[in-house]
Amino acid sequence: MDFYELIQQRYSVRSYRPDPVSPEKLQQVLEAAQLAPSAANRQPFRLIVVRTEGRENELRLIYGRDWFVQAPYVIGICTVPAEAWSRADGKNYADVDATIAMDHLVLAAAEIGLGTCWVGAFDAKAARDVLGLPADVEPIAFTPLGLPADLARPKRRRDLADLVHYDRWNPRPGA
Ligand SMILES: Cc1cc2nc3c(=O)[nH]c(=O)nc-3n(C[C@H](O)[C@H](O)[C@H](O)COP(=O)(O)O)c2cc1C
Repeated sequence: MDFYELIQQRYSVRSYRPDPVSPEKLQQVLEAAQLAPSAANRQPFRLIVVRTEGRENELRLIYGRDWFVQAPYVIGICTVPAEAWSRADGKNYADVDATIAMDHLVLAAAEIGLGTCWVGAFDAKAARDVLGLPADVEPIAFTPLGLPADLARPKRRRDLADLVHYDRWNPRPGA
């Protein structure tokens, strides 16, 4: 797909078919995450690939929606903040790096016909317990990975005039 077509067509999939995802397709989306840029190329993230089959109840503790466990895989992205680059004023870029990697994965999945949905509203403690995360590793986001069983809804986005300021911060009159 053309890139602009891809970003138009990607949507948050909230219903999945149980059909398998081939190892090649899984590999492709993981390699897309691997290729993501990161601050100072530190790559301070880890992807946790979980087969859902037989682990549905455990995974529901992380995020309780039925659709979360319908696809063959759930993928979590975690940061290792101690590995990340920090700006001179101390701002740690681990979350930014992990987010870019996850978005590479999400877009690569859409390119090959697979659905994803960013999940940030998960139970972090449950995620730590279920995935056995050490204290210095932080779960950031999850997504199912599988064939979509729903259809895209129209995109609702703020006007570009709200999102883009030219030259300097420029509040809209009356805002
Ligand atoms: C960081 C992040 C966290 C999100 N967390 C959730 C979530 O916990 N549950 C959910 O159903 N959707 C979640 N979403 C999906 C958004 O609701 C969705 O991207 C937004 O409504 C735009 O819709 P679209 O992805 O179909 O274009 C999240 C998206 C992002 C980027």
